[in-house]
Amino acid sequence: MKKRIAIVDLGGQYCHLIGRRLRDFSVTAEIYGPDVSPKELAMHAGIILSGGPSSVYEAGAPKVQPAILELKRPILGICYGHQLLAQMLGARVEKGSGEYGPTKLSVSAEDRLFADLPKEQLVWMSHGDTVNQLPAQLIPLASTEQCPNAAFADPANGFYGVQFHPEVVQTEYGRDILGRFVSSICGLEIRSDGKDRVQKLLESIRTRVGNKSVFFLVSGGVDSTVAFVLCSKALPKERILGLYVDTGLMRKREKEDLVVNLASIGLVDRLRIKDETRLFLDKLKGVVDPEEKRRIIGGLFVDAQSRTMAECGIDEGQWLLGQGTIYPDTIESGGASGRAAVIKTHHNRSPEILALLEKGLVIEPLAEFYKDEVRELGRLLGLQPKLTNRWPFPGPGLAIRCLCTRNPEKATRLEKPLEALMESSDCEGVVIPIKSVGVQGDSRTYKHVVALRHRQQHLDYEMLQSLSTKLCNVHTTTNRVIALITGPATGLMDVFVKPATLTEERLEMLREADFIVRRRMEQAKLAEKVWQFPVVLAPISFRAGEAIILRPVNSEDGMTADFARLPTDLVHEMADEIISLRKGKIDAVFLDVTSKPPATIEWE
Ligand code: XMP
Repeated sequence: MKKRIAIVDLGGQYCHLIGRRLRDFSVTAEIYGPDVSPKELAMHAGIILSGGPSSVYEAGAPKVQPAILELKRPILGICYGHQLLAQMLGARVEKGSGEYGPTKLSVSAEDRLFADLPKEQLVWMSHGDTVNQLPAQLIPLASTEQCPNAAFADPANGFYGVQFHPEVVQTEYGRDILGRFVSSICGLEIRSDGKDRVQKLLESIRTRVGNKSVFFLVSGGVDSTVAFVLCSKALPKERILGLYVDTGLMRKREKEDLVVNLASIGLVDRLRIKDETRLFLDKLKGVVDPEEKRRIIGGLFVDAQSRTMAECGIDEGQWLLGQGTIYPDTIESGGASGRAAVIKTHHNRSPEILALLEKGLVIEPLAEFYKDEVRELGRLLGLQPKLTNRWPFPGPGLAIRCLCTRNPEKATRLEKPLEALMESSDCEGVVIPIKSVGVQGDSRTYKHVVALRHRQQHLDYEMLQSLSTKLCNVHTTTNRVIALITGPATGLMDVFVKPATLTEERLEMLREADFIVRRRMEQAKLAEKVWQFPVVLAPISFRAGEAIILRPVNSEDGMTADFARLPTDLVHEMADEIISLRKGKIDAVFLDVTSKPPATIEWE
């Protein structure tokens, strides 16, 4: 009996996540490129075609060999995979109106894929193309408002396509749909008990490291701490050494917390601390492009590591560089396969690190895992919940939360049809000429932000979610929407963006605002109820100051996210405290009301 599932990676952001979902069922998946031979695929119980950033009708778009349709193996196409499978079976794929984020799906036909699931369900979409004109043998199974063939089936052959992403947690019954494909359609037994991952990981670390030692860059975050602790359990303690680089871009009390955490597990004597604040700020002076910031920071980390190794008399040939890289860091930086689009070059995927990886000098014990799995590993290793539940904090730190621009520019009105949409919601909206990173249809976007202001400054989350989804779907130069929490009563028409760079003063202001948020969330006992809570400083000005943007999100693994619906009283209290932080320096506080996709969690 063939027990594995083959996943064909067509460049999707969530391709590896499909494998992770199957791992939850104790089903093994292997990921192949589109050039995989049908003979290879025939060794599997079923085939999943992943999503991807291309259009099936474009020259050079990834294709699979038509012979895979003759293998008598069930096939499930997801997003781009759905479009590709539909096209191979004779349907037409065309540019559609695009759907990103939460979408209502109506199931219209009985089938094993949706067996016993509600007819109306919430799914997660991220596509620009649509499948039209199904040939007779394909049964339409479900639709959405914009997408007539959101799912189809050829039950006799076991061919299925879903336009949405069942692998992301926001798809309400995604786990069930994948489970039905694997069990009732591919005939595999599914189980959901955890395996002894820690033991396996320790063994693989020992094999990989041999008689070398591991030098770690630790940030105090969950991933690098769990990876550091894993290595310290796998190897004699004297064969590991951690370095904390104080970049001047960290949160308030970060360094002190790390020391306390490492002391509680007996590892503090394996830690070195290096103050590089001046160097980081000097090198980042005047840099406004987010990818450029990331490249510089990544390079400086590696540079600090080599200098420390030299200072400690460590022979490079005897050491591996340890990193707490988790899977989303790799995929968003362009993926291991090289087919996925670059969303952000995470600092642990800088060219310098890639060169070390190429030479086999890096060990990343968590490279296959997602954040929630890493937290679980941390718990299994006996780390304190305060550490394992910490909000993720990106390696480049506050540098990518302190937005910079070169040119002053005024906000502009929304186009007429959108103005009408605003009016009907009692809102005012403007396009802010500041860009932020997004992920739409598996590709990176870098687009403008729309700011909304409810005339009574009322935060109606469902209305804001619906406006934000519509705005990003319709207004194609926008990938993010923010709502004013508190600010001048003059309205948004006078808003402008002013030139700003990374300065110590701005970083300090952001650090204080971030600290207010953390303290208030902890006091309200809500810190563990949200997945992450970035606080962003943007040179969006009403008078002479700037704006702070609150970005609380719910997520499972960081690959997709929803903005968190915090009690509105708390949001207003935080905003009021932030605005009074530095007189005249902060004009307004906004709440980011965009899901991922279309926006990413961080702005840069
Ligand atoms: P985005 O912004 O892409 O982020 O939705 C997903 C998760 O990854 C974190 N992130 C990073 N973590 N180095 C990191 O260690 C980075 O360069 C980086 N960029 C984003 C982000 O905070 C979120 O948790």
